[in-house]
Amino acid sequence: MRIDYDYSDYRVLVTGASDGIGRATAQAFHEAGAAVLAVDLNPDGLESLGAHGIKTLVQDVAADDAPANMISEAEGVLGGLNVLVNNAGICPVASLAETEDAMWDAALNVNLRAMFRLSREALPLLAATPAGRIVNIASVSALMANEGMGAYTASKHGVAGFSKNLAIEVGKQGITVNYILPGAIVTGITRELVENDAEFRDFWVEKSAAGRWGQPEDIARAILFLASRDADFISGHGLAVDGGALVRA
Ligand SMILES: NC(=O)c1ccc[n+]([C@@H]2O[C@H](COP(=O)([O-])OP(=O)(O)OC[C@H]3O[C@@H](n4cnc5c(N)ncnc54)[C@H](O)[C@@H]3O)[C@@H](O)[C@H]2O)c1
Repeated sequence: MRIDYDYSDYRVLVTGASDGIGRATAQAFHEAGAAVLAVDLNPDGLESLGAHGIKTLVQDVAADDAPANMISEAEGVLGGLNVLVNNAGICPVASLAETEDAMWDAALNVNLRAMFRLSREALPLLAATPAGRIVNIASVSALMANEGMGAYTASKHGVAGFSKNLAIEVGKQGITVNYILPGAIVTGITRELVENDAEFRDFWVEKSAAGRWGQPEDIARAILFLASRDADFISGHGLAVDGGALVRA
């Protein structure tokens, strides 16, 4: 991936970094010179990141002690924090009529509550830097709905509301808070469907103006932009990175 940014003085924490968007983001910041802490509950993908010099932490972001663990690790191994990328997410699929409490709670806990708790814990470190950044990963499901994705849709609408509110509360400390709305991206969540379900695969190809699925690097590039000083005056914004899918009726 071509990197145009120089993040050599930056400390960056990325959640959900074993696979997909989080992994590409951790690698992109690392290639741009940043010190990166990559967090995931799945150790598999973290090992190869660690082999490239990226700091890693195996952690369930929804655990009670997760925010304190992640922020003390960021202080310990990175020496502070300039950028927090709240990316870890899950997508349980069931109609709302068939969604069990545990499924609903899992989606809301991982996708939204963990993001709120980690952001709150990170604020003192971010405020101590000249231009602290929080980039939250929402989804086009922050604006639209799909059958069978009710809990996910509710969580991602929540990510949008949370990001907007936090943006207005921390802006005067020099911190910006933005969220990205990825379209259809080939990652751990979608890979099997893309490979085996031609109808699903073609639906998103046709819906996108670009005529293709997105790759994790498409999202990583947008995150690097929002984290940069070029984006100093952008906050509370939801950036769709969907190849134009949302604008097609
Ligand atoms: N792939 C898409 O089409 C798409 C579209 C819109 C939004 N998103 C969002 O992008 C984000 C990243 O997902 P992805 O598509 O890269 O999927 P992915 O499955 O490839 O990556 C998600 C990562 O999060 C980790 N994770 C899940 N629960 C966790 C937890 N409790 N604690 C720590 N780590 C956890 C997983 O182990 C995995 O490595 C998610 O928030 C997802 O909702 C993805």
